[in-house]
Order: sequence, then structure tokens, then C-alpha cells
Amino acid sequence: MYRIAVIPGDGTGTEVVREGLKALKKIRDLFEIDFEFKEYDFGGERYLRTGETITDEDIEELRGFNAIYLGAVGHPGVKPGILEKGILLKLRFALDQYINLRPIKLYPNVPTPLAGKGPDDIDFVVVRENTEGLYCGSGGFLKKGTPDEVAIQEMVNTRKGVERCIRYAFEYTRRRNHEKKLTLCAKTNVLTYAHDLWDRTFREISLEYTDIKADYAHVDATTMWMVKNPEWFDVVVTTNMFGDIITDLGAMIQGGMGVAAGGNINPEGVSMFEPIGGSAPKYEGKNQINPIAAILAAQMMLEFLEEHEASLALENAVILTLKRLKSLSAGKMGFTTAQVGDLVADAIADSINKG
Ligand code: IPM
Ligand code: MN
Repeated sequence: MYRIAVIPGDGTGTEVVREGLKALKKIRDLFEIDFEFKEYDFGGERYLRTGETITDEDIEELRGFNAIYLGAVGHPGVKPGILEKGILLKLRFALDQYINLRPIKLYPNVPTPLAGKGPDDIDFVVVRENTEGLYCGSGGFLKKGTPDEVAIQEMVNTRKGVERCIRYAFEYTRRRNHEKKLTLCAKTNVLTYAHDLWDRTFREISLEYTDIKADYAHVDATTMWMVKNPEWFDVVVTTNMFGDIITDLGAMIQGGMGVAAGGNINPEGVSMFEPIGGSAPKYEGKNQINPIAAILAAQMMLEFLEEHEASLALENAVILTLKRLKSLSAGKMGFTTAQVGDLVADAIADSINKG
């Protein structure tokens, strides 16, 4: 029995999480896997009502779950930064989810903006450090609002934080067993302190993984190769901010925000799975948003729970469903959000029968 905390969050988060749960309930019926879901109302509405984002007591309660399933955070009525810091980043930091795992995988029949590239070319995983770097929230203003204003935003890199991320990436590359190539994406030519630490740590750890080819690319070059030669990448390990940026580019080449999912992983604790697109307030309540990314987040959660068969069945169901969608964009799928969820749920049974 898995206890799953469900945080639909803001905007279209509720709609896409509903479809992810539909898939998980189908999995429950077809496999010998039991889930208990508990829903939480963290998000913009609750914040506007109570002034609370996530309290320390909430965090303590969340520690008791096997995983967290999150929709989206971001509300047009709340100043940018409050919910992101107060909910999403607070969860990542407080639960020490030090890895943000983001597969960039182009599924068959999904259009990519990259001319001449197909599913064989676009299939890699970004391991993004998720608790440090420019996201640590350390800094301040001096003489704010004056012509002499100084704004400092500190980038924190700890040996421990860097090492555990790189070590995870090597282990992941080995387990993935594709090209067995791990690329460090950084900016050692400019960030000569912070990324010297990354580079040194990467080289040291690489000596323990002689079966893995350790490669390096500057972040600017990485964006270039992601467009020109995405087939060069197998696993990419990078810092929090760079990982944020290159995975939005990754989402675009894999078919858009409608399909991009990620996992915030604490290998020793509670992990959290989410579609990486935002709350898309423009589409809220319209039954038009694409739920595939949220469904793939649920699939990553199954994989993380080591329910490999169920995870494979759900992934196959998504592949079957993707063939039937006219487009992956909101409002253009040829189906409503709920209908796409139904297609996936039905395809799970089909994919088991075939498999
Ligand atoms: C993401 C998002 C978040 C981030 C924001 C909403 C804080 O862009 O998950 O990539 O920057 O990590
Ligand atoms: Mn982002």
C-alpha cells in the first residue's frame, strides 16, 4: 500500500492531476498495487484565504507519505515568488529533494520543432541539482530604490551538495544503461570558483565509474547542441539554474509543456512528481489543457516506487494515446482534458493485453 499526498495546486493543476489519478486508479484495478491518496489544498486560493503557504507542520505530515504528486503552483492573484518560494521550493528544500530528474524523450508521432530529428535522436535525461545554487534564496539589497542600489543574489555550492548530485547522476547513467555517457553542463570558463568545484568533483567521482564516459559541455554550448545534435546526450548533470533553463528548451524539443514531466527526488526520503509546465491560468477550468505531462509524472512516480511493470504499461498507454491526438497544445488536441485521460486509462488495459 502506497500513501500518496496529492497537491493539485493552482490553475490547471487540478484538471491534470485528476487525469493522472484516473490512470493510477486504473493501475490499482489492473495490478496488485494499492494506493491511498490524501489531497491537500496548498496553493493560491488557500493563500489568499488564510495567508498560509505551507507550514512546518504540513511538511512534517508530508514526511509520512511514500511520494507526493503535484499539479502546478502559480496564481495570477498572488505576487510572483510567494507561492513558488512558499510552496514549490519549500517542499523541494525542506524534504531535501536534491535531484530534479527531467527526461527529454520524444515519443513516436509527437511533432518536434527540430527538423530532421526523431525519437532516436531525442532521448536523454537531465539531472538537475535541486536544493542549492542560485535557488538558495540568499542575498539582499543595499540602498534599495535609490540610484546607488545594490542587489546581491548569492550562488551557494557545497561540496556535499555537488557531490551527492554528481554521484546520483553517475549511478543513474549506469542504471539507464544507454550510451553510458554523462555530460557535466556548467560554465567553468567564467564561474571559476563555483564551477571549479563542480568540475573537480565530477572528475574525482568519474574515476569510480570507469564504465561511464565522462564528458563536459559549457551551458551555452549545451543549448546549441540540444538543438543541433540532441543525439549526443545520454545523461546531463547540471546546476539548479542551468537545469531550469535547459529543461524548458528540452521540453520544447520533446513536444512541448504538454508532455514534459519531472521528479524531485530524495533517494533517502519523500520524492515529488510534477508536470514541469506551470498553472496556465488562461486555460483554467476549460477542460482543454493537455494532461499527458501530469500522467507521465505519475508514471515516473511508479518507476520510482519500483513498480516497473505498471510504469511500463502506463508509458505504453501514453504512447498509444499520443498517436490519436491531433496536437499536443491546449485546446487543439481534438479531445478534452478528461477525454485524453480516458484514452490513457483505456489504453492501459490494452497495453497489458498486448504485452
Ligand atoms: C520549474 C519551475 C520552478 C523552478 C519555478 C516555478 C520556481 O520553473 O520547476 O522548473 O524554477 O524550478
Ligand atoms: Mn522551470
